[in-house]
Amino acid sequence: MDRLLVTGGAGFIGANFVHHLMANTDVRVTVLDKLTYAASREALDGLPTDRVSLVVGDVADSAVVDPLVAAHDAVVHFAAESHNDNSLNEPGPFITTNLVGTFCLLEAARRHGTRLHHISTDEVYGDLALEDSTRFTEATPYNPSSPYSAAKAGSDHLVRAWVRSFGVQATISNCSNNYGPWQHVEKFIPRQITNVIDGGRPKVYGAGHNVRDWIHVEDHSSAVWRILTEGRIGETYLVGADGERDNLDVVALILAHFGRPADDFDLVTDRAGHDLRYAIDATKLRTELDWEPRHADFSEGLTRTIEWYQQHEDWWRPHKQRTEATYAAQGQ
Ligand code: NAD
Ligand code: TYD
Repeated sequence: MDRLLVTGGAGFIGANFVHHLMANTDVRVTVLDKLTYAASREALDGLPTDRVSLVVGDVADSAVVDPLVAAHDAVVHFAAESHNDNSLNEPGPFITTNLVGTFCLLEAARRHGTRLHHISTDEVYGDLALEDSTRFTEATPYNPSSPYSAAKAGSDHLVRAWVRSFGVQATISNCSNNYGPWQHVEKFIPRQITNVIDGGRPKVYGAGHNVRDWIHVEDHSSAVWRILTEGRIGETYLVGADGERDNLDVVALILAHFGRPADDFDLVTDRAGHDLRYAIDATKLRTELDWEPRHADFSEGLTRTIEWYQQHEDWWRPHKQRTEATYAAQGQ
């Protein structure tokens, strides 16, 4: 595998994955990205220009996608509309990018016999009860709650159908919530860190008891590379690092880092249809592909992430005001 097409490679996880490839492999990468509000060209700055190039284009445009897929050995498909709250306000782009975009890539992969790895989320499984030890496995039935998770679920089903009906050489990974550098300030952890840097208070939906299973984005990257290179075609692998925390715990850690009182946050209007708990059982990935996360200590990873946002205010500052204006209009 020499030439890789990475869709959504200017977004949070895609850009971190491209950095991971530059540091750990010899592959050359073409990023295909529409550069939506969520993208950061800056996240690709400084990477070797003889190994990374950017094509600005839409994954839902087959005239763009087809020649690119033909010219690469494999595709890693991150591009998506990714934020649940946006999907509740305006679902349309989630259908176009997440469903039609995946369809266009699958058709191109089918025409050209190109290997494809599809990036998905544990949110396709719906939610788990709070007081429960059950975790998602590859056998958990799909039960998505939001337009975002429903569109991702639909994209997973398209990939499975193209594998079975047309023999497309694809794999899927469903990962839990990522944190780390370059995550947009609309998402939970960067929003709360930057609120506190600004002297404001974290904004917690509902009562704050919802649980997410946090994984450092570098661990997601290493898992994707392992599945791309060693995974069995047609298989799905769940990716997680045993990082369950409720939202109040995460906010408490952020406040403590800044020496602020533990109750210095606001409870705000809950998200419609808010999933209670996600939790991943990654036994298949760990045993079959011998993968291990490196960032086992969430508090340590969070501290490094807080420091990164303190050092990269120039990057996130331009996005902050518009993001907060949207939230304020929703009572959040
Ligand atoms: P992000 O919103 O930060 O980045 C998405 C990127 O895709 C952006 O660069 C954007 O410009 C690009 N994009 C959007 N529409 C496009 C289109 N039509 N054509 C080309 N590019 C387009 O998202 P992220 O958090 O990095 O998520 C990446 C992938 O990982 C998504 O598929 C998401 O469902 C999945 N995922 C995310 C998480 C998480 O915690 N963020 C967890 C599991 C899975
Ligand atoms: P988010 O980062 O949007 O990820 P996802 O919806 O994919 O899990 O939200 C993570 C959790 O944090 C989720 O339970 C919603 C909650 N949340 C807040 O409490 N306040 C906020 O300002 C945001 C953005 C999210």
